[in-house]
Amino acid sequence: MVSEHAPSSTAQVLVASNRGPITYTLGEDGTLDAKRGGGGLVSGLSAVDDKLWVCAALGDGDREAVRRGVGEPGVRMLDIDAEVHADAYNGIANSVLWFVHHLLYQTPVEPVFDAEFRRQWASYETYNRAFARALAEEAGPGAAVLVQDYHLALVPGMLRELRPDLRIGHFSHTPWAPVDYFRLLPDDIGEQLLRGILGADRAAFLTRRWADAFISCCTEILGGTGRTRIGVHGLGADADFLRRRSQEADVDERMAALREQVGEGRKTIVRVDRTELSKNIVRGLHAYRTLLETHPEWRERVVHVAFAYPSRQDLAVYRDYTAAVQTLATEINGAYGTESWTPVLLHVNDDFARSLAAYRLADVALVNPIRDGMNLVAKEVPVVSDHGCALVLSREAGAYEELGEDAIVVNPYDVVGTAQALHEALSMSAEERTGRTKRLAEAATALPPQQWFLDQLEALRQE
Ligand code: F6P
Repeated sequence: MVSEHAPSSTAQVLVASNRGPITYTLGEDGTLDAKRGGGGLVSGLSAVDDKLWVCAALGDGDREAVRRGVGEPGVRMLDIDAEVHADAYNGIANSVLWFVHHLLYQTPVEPVFDAEFRRQWASYETYNRAFARALAEEAGPGAAVLVQDYHLALVPGMLRELRPDLRIGHFSHTPWAPVDYFRLLPDDIGEQLLRGILGADRAAFLTRRWADAFISCCTEILGGTGRTRIGVHGLGADADFLRRRSQEADVDERMAALREQVGEGRKTIVRVDRTELSKNIVRGLHAYRTLLETHPEWRERVVHVAFAYPSRQDLAVYRDYTAAVQTLATEINGAYGTESWTPVLLHVNDDFARSLAAYRLADVALVNPIRDGMNLVAKEVPVVSDHGCALVLSREAGAYEELGEDAIVVNPYDVVGTAQALHEALSMSAEERTGRTKRLAEAATALPPQQWFLDQLEALRQE
């Protein structure tokens, strides 16, 4: 053990992720307002008592909270230099690693790995090192450390050097790139990423497909995965929470408002996403327009309820994508809408209660990502659906491995095929829909977040 990093605390379970469970906003009067986040990791971690969550301060509010010593027990926020963080998060994690794993590049013109990339990469290393050092300080002897995602791919290797006594796991919430695509990265960078993750005792993924892609990269580039074990843990929907939350009064209110906007007797095609390039919202709208064109019998009888919540707006490509979604929705409404019918209801302001209301009343859920680690929306809709919902699902979503049999499966690039799938979904008999929704909900809840987390912890401790 390196004495400089001798443990100062006794935490036995540590989690590290870029985004933590809490965000602080700095008010004009100087007060700090704390907002708790949700998601699988937050629910999963609630299964464990003695734990520490190490995360990055993401905005001015978070940084101010760290400086004032404001915080939650069990959370340590790292006040990493804002420019270093921006390079690592926006420059490398979101503009390079996310693009590689989701196959998002327009390869005739990008990526270009130039001197600017190398400069940002140095920040990515600095940012990963800050996490490794903090974890080395905080972990009790022999503790289990679960490192999350592509932001922190170098942490396991760095932490292993500082604290060889620890049990280290790495979990990827994204897909993993096929080896030929992974090789777009400069050779030394690709190797560094793989070796970083292989510093863990265990590297885990959401599906077998992503785990196999990682193994292929390791085998072809490094000759194997060394001593690191590979695991698969398919995070499921949190059924208890969703069923309870979706019956609360604010959700009922949103349902009444949505019903009114949709109009009496009309069917709904619902999608709920972050406005994220990989979610394929633009092709989803093209498919809907194709449906109205090729099946005019649906005009006036269906509404596409599309919730596309802002994401990564620091990046121009995300801002452009958000604008493209809005332009296309407006175009469709202009071309087909009537006085009494708005074909697309697009909402861009994040509202969890309204999302649950849309889940409950959806006749069809459209989940058509280009590529997705899992996609929890595909799992959540069947769980809270009031009257059964037909699921149109991309075969490139991780959820396809578990839900493919009872979904209507699409190739996300095939707009004509997706339009046909929407028609099929809208035409499905109530009886068939009910049967499929029941089976989808069972498959979707097979591994609740708490169990998902405990399984990883147990596997890490056993090996
Ligand atoms: O959905 C996959 C994922 O990697 C999550 O694990 C993670 O929280 C998210 O993407 C990152 O999004 P953001 O950039 O908004 O933090």
